Amino acid sequence: IHIRFIAADQSVQDIQAEPGQSLMKAAVDANVRGIEADCGGTLTCATCHVMVNAPWIDQLPPPVADERDMLDFAACPAQADSRLSCQIVLTPELDGLVVRLPAKQH
Ligand code: FES
Repeated sequence: IHIRFIAADQSVQDIQAEPGQSLMKAAVDANVRGIEADCGGTLTCATCHVMVNAPWIDQLPPPVADERDMLDFAACPAQADSRLSCQIVLTPELDGLVVRLPAKQH
């Protein structure tokens, strides 16, 4: 599936990813700049913060309590459409997903 990352400076990174993995893993594997993922997806770092564009944000399962709690520790304040990318499992329906990257993860 195709995913677009838009950095804080508006630069665009497009990647191809396989469904079934997390958005974080897909980003790291594709060397997307701006996803740090220090904890490797165990929901303890909040350095995989992304903001998910409409209409995609409404298609994701809502965040569990631990994800919401960790978003409070994100380097850039969480927005209404903020998620931790390690908690987003890619599905075929997410083809075309567009997410924005915060200005910093640390
Ligand atoms: Fe650490 Fe997502 S990779 S919380």
